[in-house]
Amino acid sequence: SLHGIPLFKTFIEVWPQVEAFQAQPDDLLVSTYPKSGTTWLSEILDIIYQDGSVEKCQRDAIYNRVPFLEYKEPGMPSGVELLEKTPSPRLVTTHLPVQLLPKSFCDKNCKVIYMARNPKDVVVSYYYFYQMAKTHPDPGTLAEFLETFMAGKVAYGSWYEHVQGWWEKKQEKQLLYLFYEDMKKDPWQEVQKILRFLGKEMAEEMVERILHHTSFQEMKKNPSANYNSVPTALMDHSISPFLRKGIIGDWKNHFTVAQNERFNQHYQKHMMGSDLHFQME
Ligand code: A3P
Repeated sequence: SLHGIPLFKTFIEVWPQVEAFQAQPDDLLVSTYPKSGTTWLSEILDIIYQDGSVEKCQRDAIYNRVPFLEYKEPGMPSGVELLEKTPSPRLVTTHLPVQLLPKSFCDKNCKVIYMARNPKDVVVSYYYFYQMAKTHPDPGTLAEFLETFMAGKVAYGSWYEHVQGWWEKKQEKQLLYLFYEDMKKDPWQEVQKILRFLGKEMAEEMVERILHHTSFQEMKKNPSANYNSVPTALMDHSISPFLRKGIIGDWKNHFTVAQNERFNQHYQKHMMGSDLHFQME
């Protein structure tokens, strides 16, 4: 673990470089707990940065266009190495909990967009991801994985601490806190929030194009957004596609009544006193 947060060994090995990362004032950080819509938000931001050009978004795979800060796999460039080669203004993704964010992002007053998703859908999505993305240990049964998740013993640690830690940072003007569920229900409104936050204006038809290009159906068939280019040894899409269902409430197809009750109790205990609320359906 890294400062008490369970993390991949290869990521911990490059931690000194991540911690010393030099952000630039025009870097935009996309922060999420895993499985909360990172790829979706990254694609939305890249097409905004490319002034609505679908062609320019096809220049490379999403994980190269929007590098993943703390990433490292043997034989692959690390996130930091990729970022060093990325022209400004850069988009950077991270799953780091707020207390581990490299200092430079604050020193340079970088803008941050955080996206949170309800934990029941996160845990289901994470369960499938643990199986298809081979860097993870075997998650066991869903019942077992629910316990591991609630105990915060998954990669990146406790969902509760992650969403609340970043929520507290929201007091700062430079952070926009979004929800997967809002993006799903009214993507137009959420994209307008992003545009305002970035100080950008866009014609209505351009926004329509962005929404179409970043819809689940379009991204699922888009080779530069669907992760199909990752070698099967690292991600096996035959076990579960990366863009799996993309809906709110899939947990209802997975949780038993008893599991749901237990999860609700745990949720209430850990979110007590917080003004952060999630839409579970
Ligand atoms: P599901 O497993 O529930 O389908 P991340 O990018 O943070 O790893 O999150 C992955 C989750 O976001 C997956 O959830 C994936 O299907 C969903 N997702 C990706 N693109 C999406 C889109 N355009 N619309 C809705 N959901 C999307």
